[in-house]
Amino acid sequence: MDKTNEYLVNFKGHNFVKRFVKTEDLEKIDDFDIRDDDVFIITYPKSGTIWTQQILRLIYFEGHRNNTENISTMYRTPVFEYNIHNLDYAKMSSPRIFTSHLPYYLVPKGLTEKKTKTLYIYRNPKDVLISYFHFSNWVAIFEATYTMDQCLEKFLNGKVLGNCWFDHIRGWYEHRHDFNIMFLSYEDMKKDLRSSVLKICNFLEKELNEEDVDAVVRQATFENMKSDPLANCNYIINNEIGVKNNDGDFLRKGTIGDWKNHLTVKQNERFNMIFKRNMKHFPLKFIWDINEQ
Ligand code: A3P
Repeated sequence: MDKTNEYLVNFKGHNFVKRFVKTEDLEKIDDFDIRDDDVFIITYPKSGTIWTQQILRLIYFEGHRNNTENISTMYRTPVFEYNIHNLDYAKMSSPRIFTSHLPYYLVPKGLTEKKTKTLYIYRNPKDVLISYFHFSNWVAIFEATYTMDQCLEKFLNGKVLGNCWFDHIRGWYEHRHDFNIMFLSYEDMKKDLRSSVLKICNFLEKELNEEDVDAVVRQATFENMKSDPLANCNYIINNEIGVKNNDGDFLRKGTIGDWKNHLTVKQNERFNMIFKRNMKHFPLKFIWDINEQ
């Protein structure tokens, strides 16, 4: 395990939050006992992970849909590689829903051998960058990225949590035939949440009636999650993880195209150049503007 900086640590080419991992645990991931009915949400950080967790939590657990259960997202859909609440994964009842930022080559090998469903959520990387910029300057477990120029360079060079965005999405996409996987974009969810929920249900083979679908959609909106402590995880960030200041919010803006408010023309051109170089012939489409079809 290499020391990447004071906050991140590199294991087999991937950056992890140093405070939350032990080498011996990371080494066990490969052989982790996967079940056919496990579900994995995979994202590059800041791509709508918590949103997808909320959607799946609502789809799978009636008690969440009708508010009779008082269990936070992080317990229902734990982040696989950061077991900060020391859950006993082996004892969790099926279906287990795990969340992960791992690259395709570090996930348990059972994922390629079983029927386990994997949902990969991606977001246009300029908005990912902006979201990471704010997050890293708020949450204590990250090296602050201070200025946008510094953050941009770190992001483009993969010196951030999640490593290189280009490698993450390309790796998963190019190995998609090894997994039972569906790709869905943050922007699709933003533009039409209901049909995205239906697509997810279809993939997960979960049949919900109209009323239940409405309940999922209603409770997965940005506004609802922002005001729901079980869904927005601000409590965990503020009290268990720690913050650098009190100005942050996990559900910050939740929109498409906020990068336009932050990147200079020069920064945008640099991003476009690197994007073009890395994403040539990549078939998934990205939506960069809220008004784009
Ligand atoms: P912004 O910082 O751009 O607002 P992750 O969970 O992967 O860390 O991603 C966090 C990003 O997803 C944040 O983006 C957050 O606001 C956004 N997000 C979370 N829930 C959302 C929702 N219901 N609708 C739209 N965006 C949401």
